[in-house]
Amino acid sequence: MKFSDQLEKRFADLVTHYPVKRSALVPMLLYAQDEVGCISDDVVHEIAERLGLTDLEVRNVVSYYSMLHTRPIGKYNIQVCTNISCMLRGAEQIFDHFRKRLGIGHKQDTPDGLFHLEEVECIGACCWAPALQVNYDFHENLTTEKVDEVLDRYRSRQ
Ligand code: FES
Repeated sequence: MKFSDQLEKRFADLVTHYPVKRSALVPMLLYAQDEVGCISDDVVHEIAERLGLTDLEVRNVVSYYSMLHTRPIGKYNIQVCTNISCMLRGAEQIFDHFRKRLGIGHKQDTPDGLFHLEEVECIGACCWAPALQVNYDFHENLTTEKVDEVLDRYRSRQ
């Protein structure tokens, strides 16, 4: 499998940042996903070979992280935390509001391919609960009004 020259350079640089190559696995998977659109079987195999891992070891990591996907998903991946801190501060209403506004449920995509919605475990933003992540951006202290603003912002970016 062939990655872009830019990604090849990034990979080459990444492995120099860690004492063992396998530590570069998660960032390599994220960068590959950004370029390819998902973690396909080919991506799993290619990265496993580069890091001296088995395909199964890579798949185990892919299945653990909610940021990693084995199939293409909507352009904006909305991950709503419903873990304890967020749940106590209204995360379920936030998630329900997204479901109503987008007309989709957990792990579904809008028909235009713009949004993917997921309910996830803690995203490390408990102090600002309820919180969510859209791709690499965090949105915190959410209210249903803020949800509407978040959706409008990403819709206008298309
Ligand atoms: S519980 Fe939601 S960010 Fe930690």
